[in-house]
Amino acid sequence: YHSLRILGIETSCDDTAAAVVDSQRTILSQACRNQLKYHQPWGGIVPSIAKNHHYENLVPVVAEVMKDIEWNTIDAIATSVKPGLVISLWQGINFTRQLLQKYTHLSFIPIHHMEAHALTVRLTHDVPFPYMVLLASGGHCILGIVEDVDKFYRLGETKDIAPGEAFDKSAREMKLHEHPLVQDMAGGAAIGYLAREGDEKRYQLITSRYSAKMKDCSFSFGGMLSQIRRVIGKESIYYGSSSTDEQKLKDFAACIQASIVRHIETRVHRAILFCDTIQKSQWKQRLVLAGGVASNLYLRQRINDLCSHYGIELVCPPVEFCTDNGVMIAWNGIERYRRNLNVFERMPEIVVPEG
Ligand code: KG4
Ligand code: ZN
Repeated sequence: YHSLRILGIETSCDDTAAAVVDSQRTILSQACRNQLKYHQPWGGIVPSIAKNHHYENLVPVVAEVMKDIEWNTIDAIATSVKPGLVISLWQGINFTRQLLQKYTHLSFIPIHHMEAHALTVRLTHDVPFPYMVLLASGGHCILGIVEDVDKFYRLGETKDIAPGEAFDKSAREMKLHEHPLVQDMAGGAAIGYLAREGDEKRYQLITSRYSAKMKDCSFSFGGMLSQIRRVIGKESIYYGSSSTDEQKLKDFAACIQASIVRHIETRVHRAILFCDTIQKSQWKQRLVLAGGVASNLYLRQRINDLCSHYGIELVCPPVEFCTDNGVMIAWNGIERYRRNLNVFERMPEIVVPEG
């Protein structure tokens, strides 16, 4: 067959991203505009703001990735259709629809954002199926098995909030968005950065009661976040507080990071053991870390230690492909197109259910 080229479009959250990737695993172009700074004053992603920015950014972002590429060399457009903020997703879907009307030779491939996160590693590394995957981001925490491009098993997921949200809300509470050193970083990255020089032992590690109580592979970060908030309130641990110096911020950042990572570690450990219990040891030959939180270096190190102990190969996509990007969407498009999985001649009438 000839080499495929696919344009990927991603608008599920606060990044407007696009990329062109080919079946030789070459990234021909990529672009991304993040809107974080517009949402920050509100303390979270505001749907109407996200919608407007996606609307404004889609044209320039796609123009940028197509700058040196002829439209007639592209085979299909792959676009995130779920999960995510529905009105944000619709911006990407509507824009894709317009492109499909203009360039009628193009096929359309709807992409599941989380599946794309789980498969990105196959663009950058030679990872055969099956493998275990931990997807940890701002909106999700899923531990699963990838058995094929369209075959996923869920071992566990978060029962309340995702680890990225726990990081982000903690960072917010610590007023790190006002801290000149880290104010441009996402919450988790800011805490990870400060934690490098922090002493986690200065504060008692906040443990998840869920870990001890539930004998499954699910997660819960809600209780932990409440405890973190309580300590921040009680000890006034925030940037600008008269009783908080830089070291105190660093130490508490280290404590938050260690607490969140410890919980993830215990659940991954449980999943590793579970694979043997159900006689699916082939599932645990490799573990892939993906999603924004997987760019946390401390998490990578801890999971790496765990994997070494069990002789499991740990594979992490490069950090820039761990957070939301267009490349992962385009790559998922390639994997689907060559297997003819959900490739449409034109856009189906309804892609995202309303509501
Ligand atoms: O995958 P992602 O870009 O977007 C989705 O949520 O889908 O993940 C973003 C999340 C944010 O919560 C951010 O705080 C977190 O990933 N994050 C990190 C780090 N970098 C980004 N969390 C911990 N350590 C990091 N270095
Ligand atoms: Zn994501």
